[in-house]
Amino acid sequence: MKRLLSVCAVISGVLCGSSAISHAADKVEVLHWWTAGSEAEALNVLRQHLKTEGIGWQDMPVAGGGGDAAMTVLRARVTSGNPPTAAQMLGFDITDWAKAGQLASLDSVAGPEHWDAVIPRAIQRFSKYDGHWIGAPIDVHTTNWLWINKAALDAVGGKPPANWDQLIAVLDAMKAKGIIPLAQGGEDWQEATLFEAIVLGLGTDFYKKAFIELDPATLKGAKMAEAFTRLVKLRSYVDANFSGREWNLATAMVIQGKAGMQEMGDWAKGEFLRAGKTPWEDFVCIRFPGTQGAATFNADQFVMFKGGDKAGQIAMAKAVEDVEVQQDFNIIKGSVPARTDVPDTKFDACGKKGMADLKEADRNGTLFGSMAHGYAVPAAIKNAIYDVVTGVFNGDIDPEDGPSELADAVDLAK
Ligand code: GAL
Repeated sequence: MKRLLSVCAVISGVLCGSSAISHAADKVEVLHWWTAGSEAEALNVLRQHLKTEGIGWQDMPVAGGGGDAAMTVLRARVTSGNPPTAAQMLGFDITDWAKAGQLASLDSVAGPEHWDAVIPRAIQRFSKYDGHWIGAPIDVHTTNWLWINKAALDAVGGKPPANWDQLIAVLDAMKAKGIIPLAQGGEDWQEATLFEAIVLGLGTDFYKKAFIELDPATLKGAKMAEAFTRLVKLRSYVDANFSGREWNLATAMVIQGKAGMQEMGDWAKGEFLRAGKTPWEDFVCIRFPGTQGAATFNADQFVMFKGGDKAGQIAMAKAVEDVEVQQDFNIIKGSVPARTDVPDTKFDACGKKGMADLKEADRNGTLFGSMAHGYAVPAAIKNAIYDVVTGVFNGDIDPEDGPSELADAVDLAK
């Protein structure tokens, strides 16, 4: 037994445990928050891939974009000693679990399959801890997009807005035509997604200082006041029924032409494609006005827990990083692959733009982690920012008080 354990340790590091080499995986249980149509369809790529290897799939969906509800369920599962085989996770949540010593090492797959060479450094920062792989990224989303209904845009002149003033002009013109100008969902993470695009639009240094460095003077400064003023301005273009609305229902409003546009990460594109829509014919994908050249990213990753089913974990890690899975999954999901060696040939125009934008931002030093999706700050600070942004958006906090409330909330949460 002693010999077996030490061989085991050499072969596969932490992943190798009690039942590691005693059986092949028969199924994986996967916890995730991909409940919208396009999300479930994308996940099916992974499921089918595992099926061809004779591995079954036990689905554990926890509804709620952004993943906060999923993280609560996951915590309960891990605490009771019953983790799923793999869980979808983002950014600082991953490093926090790793710091707590709970995540299984994926080195036994990552090493031989050369993940170091194909996964971008900016993502590796969150997929590795203490030199060991603990996350398998499946996609890279960026959040600073604007999705516009093409017919609605054509009705007001057809020119995509390139800066703030043009955006306001287009929104006003749509309003005058009786179109709901801005489709917005009513959940804190969606409001935070809109807000981070506004902040990025006021300057890449500003975004970095505010949300990456959490610089107190920036958080409570005049530019932040401007950001809150812009947030409230955009709120005035949203219909009255937005409260509690899920992101994909807001996207559906744009798809159907009931609303003109939505600011959202590129998972929104998955819904357009699923509805049979074509980029630049039926809808327009542009960077949120003022943010072309920069990008805020969130990469969905799968993590595995110590004490979980080892064989299933290995099978899952391999499947997630399979080149074809990454291609097919991301085409449906709206994101771009987390591996740099996946060709862009089969991607649509928005997907190709997504890949090119990401490379450009990375080259220019203007690629930042998304605050709203856990890649800029740990959950406690993210949630503190959510509270203030939501408070202002919903009229519970005066926009003039936004900056000082934000600085105080962040300070308390640190
Ligand atoms: C994000 C996640 C995306 C997307 C979105 C809405 O947090 O990273 O993959 O699906 O939530 O559910």
